[in-house]
Amino acid sequence: MKPQNTLDLSEQIKEVTKESHVRAENTELMLSFQRGQVTLPQYKLLLCSLYEIYQVLEEEMDRNSNHPAVAPIYFPAELARIKSIEKDLEYFYGPDWREKIVVPAATQRYSHRLRQIGKENPEFLVAHAYTRYLGDLSGGQVLGRIAQKSMGLKSGEGLSFFAFPGVSSPNLFKQLYRSRMNSVELTAEERNGVLEEAVRAFEFNIQWEHQECSILCFTETWPQGDIPDTEVYLSDCEINWQTRLLFRNIEIHALHKRSTFFFLTI
Ligand code: HEM
Repeated sequence: MKPQNTLDLSEQIKEVTKESHVRAENTELMLSFQRGQVTLPQYKLLLCSLYEIYQVLEEEMDRNSNHPAVAPIYFPAELARIKSIEKDLEYFYGPDWREKIVVPAATQRYSHRLRQIGKENPEFLVAHAYTRYLGDLSGGQVLGRIAQKSMGLKSGEGLSFFAFPGVSSPNLFKQLYRSRMNSVELTAEERNGVLEEAVRAFEFNIQWEHQECSILCFTETWPQGDIPDTEVYLSDCEINWQTRLLFRNIEIHALHKRSTFFFLTI
């Protein structure tokens, strides 16, 4: 392998996020996908988070599309996901999906960060665009096929997120994308910032995936009927230890009945 300082940005970013990728592949949510056990509630919640993330990511990419660090990796026709996610949300939640969707607090923290860097450090957008889009064009393609099988969906229905009609060969496109990343001119300080931001981008993804699992685990164990006193309920119900750990430090802002939603912040 080449020494770190002679690596291209695309090689460096892959190298520094290697360990994070292993952790991202092994969240409960991703393991459910890989085992072919992804459920409809899991998938719907996943789409809600993706909506929040891509809405902000793509708004910030559009706003900064002429920035020298963003322009080379700006491929809205090939990559933009927001319209596909909206289509999927409408398929699952109906025409009033906007009133029904749920955004975990960890996803909101991710989107706040995207908003902040879009304003303050647009060059860091390359780290987030890389993490999401190259991931969607890699493992994401396999996940789409598994999701279809696991949930028994008809071809393409509710699965637009995984389809990239503007990309005929994901592998060739990834090569082009990497070469564009490598053409971005960055000072040493900016490059280090981008690498740190890529690790952070993976961390945000790991966090919201963890929180989704906890939300689902919690709602699945929720009995029908009135909502009990939260503290008593939490100590009595059978939830796994990760959820217990999570809830120990959580403040429940708003809590609605089973199958609807609640917002959490740690
Ligand atoms: C079930 C979960 C996952 C599987 C099976 C998976 C699998 C893969 C595979 C096979 C590749 C291609 C590696 C290569 O070309 O050398 C890849 C690349 C990638 N994945 Fe994942 N992945 C998963 C989850 C994730 C998640 C959650 C993220 C981040 C949000 C992510 C981000 C990436 C990125 C950015 C790349 C491109 C690496 C590069 O070529 O530089 N992956 N993934």
